[in-house]
Amino acid sequence: MSQPITILVGTMTGTAELVAQEVEQTLQAAGYAPRIEMMDAADASVFADGGVFLIVSSTYGNGDVPDNAQAFFSSLQGERPDLSNVVYGVIALGDITYKATFCQGGLQFDRLLNELGARRAGEPLTHDASSGTLAEDVACEWAASWAEQELAPAVAA
Ligand SMILES: Cc1cc2nc3c(=O)[nH]c(=O)nc-3n(C[C@H](O)[C@H](O)[C@H](O)COP(=O)(O)O)c2cc1C
Repeated sequence: MSQPITILVGTMTGTAELVAQEVEQTLQAAGYAPRIEMMDAADASVFADGGVFLIVSSTYGNGDVPDNAQAFFSSLQGERPDLSNVVYGVIALGDITYKATFCQGGLQFDRLLNELGARRAGEPLTHDASSGTLAEDVACEWAASWAEQELAPAVAA
């Protein structure tokens, strides 16, 4: 059976959702079984069974996660579940004109999941909206090589 991958989307104006839809196809072509879940209704229980997750999040405010991701992020901070059976990747969207807070929405998720014991596969992708490249194109290229790694979580003894 194909390895499932849950793509969790934090977005304000839809770019991260478009990225997730294109990346879903890339991961399918690589032999995985991806599924998109918007962060709006998510809470810490999405990680209850462990598995492979891809965080796709933009950045707002002062380097904050988007509005639709805030309750999810707070629930993880509050409940602090043990995520040692979680493997994840990060696609962080931002704009370099925001300098110090560039892509910090996605990168905040990276720090938190790491703190909670999850294993990150590969380096986070950071996409700059003012670079002249399309986030979905850059993300699909990144996802194709991300998918070539060993993504399955370690099985508990
Ligand atoms: C009001 C506003 C605030 C933003 N703040 C940041 C920021 O602090 N850091 C950053 O890297 N990008 C920031 N961005 C850029 C967005 O994260 C970027 O355009 C992203 O691609 C939007 O994705 P989305 O459509 O999925 O929300 C901001 C954009 C807007 C409109």
